[in-house]
Amino acid sequence: MSELERLQASCLYEIANCDSLKKLDMLKSAVFGKNGKITEIMKKLRDMDGDEKRQLGAAINSLKDEIMEKLDEKFYELEMQELDKKLASEFVDVGMPSRPNCFGKIHPITKVEEEVAHIFSSYGFAFADGPDVESEYFNFTALNMPDHHPAKTMHDTFYVHKLADENGRKLLRTHTSPVQIYAMRANEPPLRCFSIGRVYRSDYDATHTPMFTQVEGVVLEKNIGFSHLKWLLSDFVKKFFEVKTVQMRFRPSFFPFTEPSAEIDINYEMRDGKIIFGVGDRWLEIAGGGAVHPNVLKYGKVDGEKYQGLAFGFGIERLASLKYGIPDLRGYFESNERWINAFGFSHATR
Ligand code: DAH
Repeated sequence: MSELERLQASCLYEIANCDSLKKLDMLKSAVFGKNGKITEIMKKLRDMDGDEKRQLGAAINSLKDEIMEKLDEKFYELEMQELDKKLASEFVDVGMPSRPNCFGKIHPITKVEEEVAHIFSSYGFAFADGPDVESEYFNFTALNMPDHHPAKTMHDTFYVHKLADENGRKLLRTHTSPVQIYAMRANEPPLRCFSIGRVYRSDYDATHTPMFTQVEGVVLEKNIGFSHLKWLLSDFVKKFFEVKTVQMRFRPSFFPFTEPSAEIDINYEMRDGKIIFGVGDRWLEIAGGGAVHPNVLKYGKVDGEKYQGLAFGFGIERLASLKYGIPDLRGYFESNERWINAFGFSHATR
């Protein structure tokens, strides 16, 4: 075995078996450094000439290339190993809660929103959404409330001054019903969807706040009618209030966007100052709803000859107050720590 072959074999062996970047660095200088093995052999070239010198020179060069290549590969391999080790030792679980679960409370609105969403999802309703800053067109016109319609003035609207576009003046939506129009336009019927969101009206006392939260539902199907709405809402009420039976009363009412329209009451009784649903002969209004008005179907670009629509809406705070005994509506929005400690929910109940 020539000297070069021996050097080649020993270098390749040592590189292959090297297990740290530091050792590999040392190995590199032991081969290529000032007094390195290759450097030593190169010195021999000085005393040679002719073919011998050329041959040895070429052999050394190809050995140098080979060893360099193996060194580079090994450097890369060891660097990757060290990086993996470092990443494993510094692993941060970004999905982990940053604080223990006992920190803070869940707001009753959030809790009830989640409960409502859970129930409607179980019926196959998809979530739909719309903007808080609406236009007159979607908030009123498309819901069969044209200009000068008396219902428009009943809504105590906050207008966003100086903002307007081809859909009329901008305003803070007074109800979640405009979402019906977006949902109808964006989907081919049949359709089942619900929305939950904030709405705004210029009103403030123990039973009204300028901002509150509504749930909206809309269904488009062939051959559906009031009986389906009745089943749906009574099943919802049973699930939400966790009672086995409940009586419902559909009182004839008026909403411009439904025809016929009804206000929906459920029965209850008071026991030891607590309200119990599904028993007793007192009535409490919990929702409004009806069959979607043909004009609204038109604005939603739905073929009213083929499909019928049902729609309903109710308030989240009212449901929360009834289920969890929260008295004054204003407390929901005052960010009072004592209030949230009294009425909020621990994360464990989620
Ligand atoms: N938008 C109505 C309100 O704010 C609630 C409502 C009633 C929604 C009847 C509906 C409905 O979808 O069919 O008072």
